[in-house]
Amino acid sequence: MSQPNAERLDVRLVQIRLEADDVASYEFRPIDVPMLPAFEAGAHIDLHLPENRVRSYSLLNDPHERHRYVIAVQREASGRGGSAWMHNTPRVGDRFTISAPLNDFPLNEQAKNSVFICGGIGITPVVSMIRRLERLGAKWQLHFAARHRARAAYAEELALLPESDNRVKLHLESDGARVDIRRLVSDAPAGTHFYCCGPRGMVDDFIASCADLPQEQVHFERFAAASDSATEGGFDIVLQKSGKRIPVQPGKTILDALLDQGVDVQYACCAGVCGTCRTGVVDGVPDHRDDFLTDEEKAGNTAVMVCCSGASSKTLVLDL
Ligand code: FES
Repeated sequence: MSQPNAERLDVRLVQIRLEADDVASYEFRPIDVPMLPAFEAGAHIDLHLPENRVRSYSLLNDPHERHRYVIAVQREASGRGGSAWMHNTPRVGDRFTISAPLNDFPLNEQAKNSVFICGGIGITPVVSMIRRLERLGAKWQLHFAARHRARAAYAEELALLPESDNRVKLHLESDGARVDIRRLVSDAPAGTHFYCCGPRGMVDDFIASCADLPQEQVHFERFAAASDSATEGGFDIVLQKSGKRIPVQPGKTILDALLDQGVDVQYACCAGVCGTCRTGVVDGVPDHRDDFLTDEEKAGNTAVMVCCSGASSKTLVLDL
């Protein structure tokens, strides 16, 4: 999702709003300039947080708007503290540094029909896509899975759209409902474009269900890589520039070990999907666990996503 070198902007936080249980939205406005860079539906921005943390969030407002960016953040009990910081610390009026919008989850605006399947906070890029399709007068349907109604952010707002009974279907775990993705895919008219954003199991199911479709009709964005992070440890990292050797203990990722030693590394998703923590490999063999590098890049062993990947050699020399 993220590009470490994307243009940076200063913005002001002008509104924080509770959107659902543990989900708050944040509205940012430009400082000193009248308009923000344009963005496409599905785009995200990176927020630069204290302690060198960077977090990527989808923009959920109408891509037509240039006066504001709106994101939503779900508090993650098991996260690395970025979401807790966002829920506890910022105040209206605070300045933030963000990246200009980037889009790794683009909407096909020419599609005759679009079906969105999302779970939990995965609704955020889809809200912006639906706003865009409404402007275009295009056909779409949404299947939104949530644990219970109080956690289904934006469900009420989407239900106010015209013909929402036919277009918005809420699948609540509390009612025992489950999205039958295979059936949705097989029942949709030919040429439909399918989009999925949600937890790992949902995205895996979606990919399997869409396996027979032309891949240009299949679009997804993950919160987490398909594999578990490497936390087996038992190898050393060597920083090429200083020669410093850092052991990676069991239970830790490479990123944990680097941060524990005060090494300045950028990271965002901590899940192997955004690309922020990409680090050059000078020597050794990474155990790749991310969904960001291509198969060719993984085979080349010249880069590693330190937030989630490990090493299958005893030592990994990093370009740090
Ligand atoms: S921090 Fe996102 S891939 Fe590592």
